[in-house]
Amino acid sequence: RERLSNVSTLEDALRLIRDSKKIIILSGAGISTSCGIPDFRSSTGLYSKLQEEGKYNLDDPQQMFDIHYFKENPQVFYSFAKQIYPSNFIPSPCHRWIKMLEDKGKLLRNYTQNIDTLESLAGVEKVLQCHGSFKTASCLRCKTRVPGQTIEPHIMSQQVPYCGSCRTKRDEEINRKKEMKKGKGKAKAKAQWDDNDDDDSEEDEWGGGEPGIIKPDITFFGQALDSEFDQCLFQDREEVDLLVIIGTSLKVAPVSEVLTHIPHSVPQIYINLTPVYHVQPDICLLGDADSIVNDLSSQLGWDIPPPIAITN
Ligand code: OAD
Repeated sequence: RERLSNVSTLEDALRLIRDSKKIIILSGAGISTSCGIPDFRSSTGLYSKLQEEGKYNLDDPQQMFDIHYFKENPQVFYSFAKQIYPSNFIPSPCHRWIKMLEDKGKLLRNYTQNIDTLESLAGVEKVLQCHGSFKTASCLRCKTRVPGQTIEPHIMSQQVPYCGSCRTKRDEEINRKKEMKKGKGKAKAKAQWDDNDDDDSEEDEWGGGEPGIIKPDITFFGQALDSEFDQCLFQDREEVDLLVIIGTSLKVAPVSEVLTHIPHSVPQIYINLTPVYHVQPDICLLGDADSIVNDLSSQLGWDIPPPIAITN
């Protein structure tokens, strides 16, 4: 690129990382593959697997995360969800590298598309989970939000969870109607007397139907990102001095559009196993992300924090 025509080598990447103080890290599934979590679009990724298995009868594997499909077929997602539910994974060197940048006071924010929460497990505080997480879940009908643990048993037993709050409202409505009917029974005698009986058309606050389905607060295709994404980006674009993109195919908007929303004068480094053709980052470091960040750190004389000891 013209604006950074003198920036193109590993030396430049090292200098940029060393000198920058407000780095945005934009990360994706490629930073968690070494933890045993498949990415989405690689030949060994989740979408290929869903396609090959064919057991969910999806027209397109992305339907698994499509809100319209979910509303019609929630049991399909719930028969699959335990496969992507965060379990006992350990953060990768990439997660720990991001933590190291934060400890050095260089991290403006980590925009992650991942829902595995491994950034938080690595101790990263300035992280925005752009596609949400399993931490909370919400009713699609009444919007009541519950802690993610509430639906963990349903995920594990592959059952669709329905909203307790809706259930309460429905039961209240049923009771209210029963009470009214009782009242009416008494009123009927009187009504017959004065020939002024009403029909059954009392207002139904509940609106009828079943309680709402609860969905984990991970962003599906067809759902807007949390407004925090726009707010953070609006704020960060004024401050950022380097964008480092790691382990993402940059195929999903609006996160992929972060590149165009920050000033053009901000250099962009892309670290990924495979190249990207629809955008032109200033520097592309192709290969395994863990090896690359390990290399960068050792050349800068920096130590990536060791893996967290998992105690049972
Ligand atoms: P993708 O699967 O689209 O891209 C992951 C990228 O990481 C690919 O380009 C891989 O080549 C690369 N990769 C894999 N292993 C790597 C490694 N060890 N080192 C370096 N690179 C590696 O995943 P995302 O871009 O994260 O959204 O996908 C974005 C969104 O699409 C996801 O958040 C998800 C998905 O649909 C929703 O579900 C809403």
